Amino acid sequence: MGFPIHRLRRLRQHASLRRMVRETALAPADFIYPLFVTYGQNKQEPIASMPGQFRWSVDRVVQEAHEAWELGIPAVILFGIPEYKDERGTSACEANGVVQQAVRALKSQLPDLMVLTDVCIDEYTSHGHCGIVRDGRIINDETLECLQAMALSHAEAGVDMVAPSDMMDGRVGAIRQALDASGYTEMPILAYSAKYASSLYAPFRDAAFSSPSFGDRRSYQMDAGNAREALREVELDIQEGADMVMVKPAMLYLDIIRLVRQHVTIPVAAYQVSGEYSMIKAAAQMGWMQETPLMMESLLAIKRAGADLILTYFAKDAARVLTGPDT
Ligand code: PBG
Repeated sequence: MGFPIHRLRRLRQHASLRRMVRETALAPADFIYPLFVTYGQNKQEPIASMPGQFRWSVDRVVQEAHEAWELGIPAVILFGIPEYKDERGTSACEANGVVQQAVRALKSQLPDLMVLTDVCIDEYTSHGHCGIVRDGRIINDETLECLQAMALSHAEAGVDMVAPSDMMDGRVGAIRQALDASGYTEMPILAYSAKYASSLYAPFRDAAFSSPSFGDRRSYQMDAGNAREALREVELDIQEGADMVMVKPAMLYLDIIRLVRQHVTIPVAAYQVSGEYSMIKAAAQMGWMQETPLMMESLLAIKRAGADLILTYFAKDAARVLTGPDT
């Protein structure tokens, strides 16, 4: 029973009709907007490899988050660029660290905006690794103590959710335990569960000055060839108390997003990372592709694959499209 009884083009003839039968649609509420916070005052430093993205000082980040909020974006996630870095990433845990200050400022001025923080010490360590380093190795269990302290300092500043991105084993459980022991039993954890060792993080490392000074992250981030292992990471994180899980990056890992979506009942987030953003920006700057439709298609693909939430540097631009005239 095919053609000519059936003609699939019948339902494609008008924009409104296409809208009626569209299976997947994006909304501003799908987005979490990543923001880089740095020390100092009145700063809006452009990030060369991420056109349109900036390092904000605490006073300026509130304004940027406010714009996102006005566009219907319910959440931001903060990354800190501290004034000093050392072997143990001490500045990650300071009550007056950049992220802790930004959390306080955001929660006092935009109380309904959900403020998430990335919990990982790589932006704060002199060697740029996500863990404590000894004899050239990344020491797992000792790193857990740093992550606990970091998560607690964010909780004390008033954060709404913590998101560990370090990929140490056992970190979700360790953070859950530390939060619970201090009375933060209601604080959700978004675990970067399936985080792959990817070339797509390069612009972020530029932005945060966090490229590893030796070696790479392959002893803790996942191998790009593995899909079943993503499910193990996800299962363990859920057992340890993760309230939501994440797949990262997104575009080159749409199969993983789908796989995870089919295996869990909790919300699944996907991170459209810096390299995905910058590739689209670069192609548009070259005049080879059109930025806005490409941006929307990339985000729709991530949602269609199964992501409930998308961390994206395009959050504001996409929300503007979605709240603008019909497309
Ligand atoms: C680690 C972290 C990274 C990103 C988010 N959290 C960098 C890394 O693992 O090297 C990358 C995000 C992006 O590329 O947009 N704190």
